[in-house]
Amino acid sequence: MTNTTTYNIASIPGDGIGVDVTEAAEAVLNKLAETVGTFKFNFTTFDWSSKKYLERGWYMPEDGMQQLSKYDAIFFGAVGSPDVPDHISLWGLILPIRKYNNQYVNVRPTRILPGTVAPLAQCRERPQDIDWMIIRENSEGEYAGQGGTTHENSPDTIATEVAIFTRVGIERIMRFAFETAKSRPRKKLTMVTKSNAQRHGMVLWDKVFHEVAKEYEGVVEWDKMLVDAMTVRMVNKPESMDTIVATNLHADILSDLAAALAGSIGIAPSANLDPTRKYPSMFEPIHGSAPDIAGQGIANPVGAFWSAAEMVRWVGQGKLDKVADDFMQAIENVTSNPKTRTKDMGGSANTKETTEAVIKQIDVVFGKK
Ligand code: NAI
Ligand code: MG
Repeated sequence: MTNTTTYNIASIPGDGIGVDVTEAAEAVLNKLAETVGTFKFNFTTFDWSSKKYLERGWYMPEDGMQQLSKYDAIFFGAVGSPDVPDHISLWGLILPIRKYNNQYVNVRPTRILPGTVAPLAQCRERPQDIDWMIIRENSEGEYAGQGGTTHENSPDTIATEVAIFTRVGIERIMRFAFETAKSRPRKKLTMVTKSNAQRHGMVLWDKVFHEVAKEYEGVVEWDKMLVDAMTVRMVNKPESMDTIVATNLHADILSDLAAALAGSIGIAPSANLDPTRKYPSMFEPIHGSAPDIAGQGIANPVGAFWSAAEMVRWVGQGKLDKVADDFMQAIENVTSNPKTRTKDMGGSANTKETTEAVIKQIDVVFGKK
């Protein structure tokens, strides 16, 4: 009899297709756990949706963070509804979770999965040209929430949005980025900045980067890009990059571009990490609630599955890396078949059919051993 480790997961489906893809991810994770046999997942669902917000006036209860702190990880679908202004839903739920739980790193792996029609001609021939790990600063920068509005509702309204950069915040993200680059085969880091025009915060960003870089001399090769030029390089020379580190806003934008270059926003995953492991980390597909297709059962669950694979890697602390890799193989077997991938990837399957196909492929991939 082997020992079984139980991972307690707080599941927050949220709104729209967030609900469908979270349900799909739970089914697939349960299948994975059952197949491997050394661990299992115990999911607790929190209905902190926009629908509930409209009924009761809040997204999370007052002790919401205390409730979450008991879990090994958080799985998140998506939040956002046409009936609630986006800054209310974002600041009501997802941003406070990231902040309170010290999730100062947002990791966005980007690859072209089989079955994807990549928009770049060069990537249609060589999908391996896009293999990036985007490291987004997730706690400060342009999304620090500092600022204010005066003379509201008058022609003289003034609003400020203050970007915050701290030495502590920059140093820890740079160190995480260098460690990530070091752990990957190419050992290559591209640092994104805008220190030509933004002459305070971004200058500190560069300065601390160069300090940390000294510790990795001869170990990690690095270069530096202005964010505007970076968009051009991502399109024209995608193969020239590996690990990428950028501020909260810059990486938010660049990672959407990355998702588009990889073929579909529906497959892109993300991990919000507290590298100290004091608080739970959160895993979520990068797409939103997609009100245009919500309720139709056609959402691509692959972004949620890939996020789930990253969650397996994280909770396993090195022990489940192979399981996560094999799980990704099962997902890729499904995306390579037009009959089992969803419409946004040019396939004919709905969410349920893709989910069932992944469940079958888990048997195939793990059964081989
Ligand atoms: P979105 O990602 O929800 O949708 C953009 C487009 O991509 C839509 O046409 C949608 O149908 C399609 N799409 C997205 N995910 C898909 C999937 N899994 N399968 C197939 N097609 C998919 O972004 P949008 O429309 O800008 O935002 C909608 C709502 O979601 C807003 O309220 C927004 O604030 C919220 N949002 C929430 C996020 C989160 O919870 N982390 C992230 C992004 C947006
Ligand atoms: Mg975004």
